[in-house]
Amino acid sequence: MSAFAAVDVIRAKRDGGVLSEGQIDWVVDAYTKGLVADEQMSALAMAILLRGMTAPEIARWTAAMIASGERLDLSPVARPTVDKHSTGGVGDKITLPLTPLVAACGAAVPQLSGRGLGHTGGTLDKLESIPGWRAALTNDEFIAQLRDVGAVICAAGDGLAPADRKLYALRDVTGTVEAIPLIASSIMSKKIAEGTGALVLDVKVGSGAFMKNADDARELARTMVELGGAHGVRTVALLTDMSTPLGLAVGNAVEVTESVEVLAGGGPADVVELTLALAREMLHAAGLPDADPEAALRDGRAMDAWRTMIRAQGGDPDAPMPTANEVEVVTAAEDGWVAELDAYAIGVAAWRLGAGRARKEDPVSIPSGVVLHKRRGDRVRVGDPLFELRAEHAERIPAALAEAREAVRIAPDAPEATPLVIERIG
Ligand code: URA
Repeated sequence: MSAFAAVDVIRAKRDGGVLSEGQIDWVVDAYTKGLVADEQMSALAMAILLRGMTAPEIARWTAAMIASGERLDLSPVARPTVDKHSTGGVGDKITLPLTPLVAACGAAVPQLSGRGLGHTGGTLDKLESIPGWRAALTNDEFIAQLRDVGAVICAAGDGLAPADRKLYALRDVTGTVEAIPLIASSIMSKKIAEGTGALVLDVKVGSGAFMKNADDARELARTMVELGGAHGVRTVALLTDMSTPLGLAVGNAVEVTESVEVLAGGGPADVVELTLALAREMLHAAGLPDADPEAALRDGRAMDAWRTMIRAQGGDPDAPMPTANEVEVVTAAEDGWVAELDAYAIGVAAWRLGAGRARKEDPVSIPSGVVLHKRRGDRVRVGDPLFELRAEHAERIPAALAEAREAVRIAPDAPEATPLVIERIG
């Protein structure tokens, strides 16, 4: 007989109580083993969403999720290790240029990434646009590439935080994703189990992000920074704007192309700005404050690291990107300024074109997506191209067009400039 009953744990949280360490350890372990049923964990997740958790409860819950699986040992890697995690957004391809850039500056970057779901894209889906590139590595391959190349982006193996894998899928279908204690423990359990020495969090705020307002984003960031510190991982967070897409490209192949432009020393100013801001934070956290990421972008070292990283996983960095059969260019119907270009609506449009998936098992379309010709704050005249929609199949275009048109508002005056990096927490 077990020392606890799931229904007592649920009742305790439902009534606003604080769960004991024993209750937390037991419920996470029993759920992972299938001894606590999905409907019981759903009820507990909802109680946590409504009642919240204290800092010690979140710390214990995170530790229990880490303990549900293996913890990688990155000690064979001589360089300092530092990772970045973004809470997800539209056009957020920063991992692609950032990982080789930070590696080119002397750190090792163990990036365990995910796939896109809904309106936000996934790093692995984007990289799979590159012919031959392989997302699945064994733990030994992961550590060997980190040691030899200093940069690796791959799928997280099944052994890391299996409790989170199960719980996240359950939260996804029970309206309990948005609980800050559950988001923070979910993200940090995977990052701590991965074995990184330092971590920089890019917590997105705005219509295209999980967190729609700065107060919630700040609370999430603070919670994760504390969790990292408590587990010996130097952690800082940047709150960054996700009310409008990052860069000009939203999709899979189109985002790889834009990332390569950044590595070649060009690319959109906001993508370059955020890549450099995160690179500086990562290098600082890794104990390499004198490294100069701007120089590494300029002199081709970051591009060299990218090519080596892609080749190490079977990809051909010189292969042309697949192109879409169907392209629809939308032009401005009036003169003025782009006052709004909504990230969420553009993300949904890209998803409707086929760039994203509705269910975990769906395939994604590599060449589909949205390419912006204008950004928020740009001047436009009647007939100027605003954006183009790219798809493999013409029937995908109308629904995406309806969504993307709603994203753009043209006004007679220029909008006020807003900062990309809103705040630093750490
Ligand atoms: N990403 C995660 O890994 N977990 C969450 O709960 C939310 C976003």
